[in-house]
Amino acid sequence: MSDGVYLVETVTTSAFTLRAADADLKLDCGFEPGIAAFGPGEGEPWGAMALREADGTVSARFWVAPERRGRKLGAAMLRAVAGPVFATGAKRFETRAPVRELAAIRSAMRAGFRPDAGIIRGGAWDGSDALGLGLLPEYGHGPAPRALPDLPGGELTDGTVSLRTLRPDDFEDHLRHRASPDVYSGAALQLPPSVGEIADMCEWRAAIDWLRGRSALMVVDDGTGYRGTIGLYDVARVVGTAMIGYDLSAGARGKGYATRAVRLVCRWAFTEVGVDRVWAGTDVHNAASQAVLRRAGFRLEGIARGGLPTLDGTRRDTLSWAALSRDT
Ligand SMILES: CC(C)(COP(=O)(O)OP(=O)(O)OC[C@H]1O[C@@H](n2cnc3c(N)ncnc32)[C@H](O)[C@@H]1OP(=O)(O)O)[C@@H](O)C(=O)NCCC(=O)NCCS
Repeated sequence: MSDGVYLVETVTTSAFTLRAADADLKLDCGFEPGIAAFGPGEGEPWGAMALREADGTVSARFWVAPERRGRKLGAAMLRAVAGPVFATGAKRFETRAPVRELAAIRSAMRAGFRPDAGIIRGGAWDGSDALGLGLLPEYGHGPAPRALPDLPGGELTDGTVSLRTLRPDDFEDHLRHRASPDVYSGAALQLPPSVGEIADMCEWRAAIDWLRGRSALMVVDDGTGYRGTIGLYDVARVVGTAMIGYDLSAGARGKGYATRAVRLVCRWAFTEVGVDRVWAGTDVHNAASQAVLRRAGFRLEGIARGGLPTLDGTRRDTLSWAALSRDT
């Protein structure tokens, strides 16, 4: 292998053929297409890739023609070239996907790339922040393991409340909610978030933290729209534990929604995520939150002395609660 542009032999799958692109091939893909994918009838390319090699790592940019999207072709193209890439001695096959390009990130993960390089500031091909994903020969052929699976059918619901992922179009609701003193005063840091933090969270951070298995942030909807959030945080699969946290807007309180949401998330955590212990911390004075946990089957385990910081630099005590999978 030598530094620079990297080509593989022609690869033929049951759906398409990937081969070196003609020098005069022009595509609106944002990069010089070194490799193009063609369907059975040839014609216009279905997709394209550019591979570069440096120090035993091959990096990929990939693109699917807009009219061919929605059929997981991006993942199939990456998977098809992985064998030839490793056969030539590469130690690592990687891609840096812009954090806002969820289709690219999910495609890479479906092809087995794991989000092992974290958020790389300015690391994407367009200068935006990237998620670095890598594939190693020993990972095998399946998709990347997911500590936090997608919600079944896209939501958790008990018929009264439904929980779904946070989306870019939640920005205004999420900002209004999180900037409200009666919501952030109950948060761990008791500070309003910045507009930029909320925008990042809605546009990409919540989705990426879910894909990376770090936290699952969900919107609580009672059929009238955004009413608050609930999340499973600090997911530690090795020891089988996770933390739960939630907040409802003032108008949605007192209706039992939080208890329903906690029950839904705990059932999902025990049955689909596979943790055995979900814990929560409440302020010692937060009677409403304590009642939610008690109703949802959590037991009070004790006082965490100085469990959380306060704005004046001292620490406040919190109550520690937990529910175990064997309780249910
Ligand atoms: C990235 C790209 C190649 C994927 O094309 P594709 O293979 O047709 O992708 P699909 O539409 O089948 O979607 C792939 C996955 O993303 C998901 N997805 C698609 N659009 C999405 C969106 N707007 N938000 C969240 N997820 C999305 C799909 O549900 C699917 O998920 P799954 O595999 O976990 O089921 C294509 O979108 C593209 O060419 N984008 C522009 C170039 C680019 O971003 N390249 C990557 C550079 S590193």
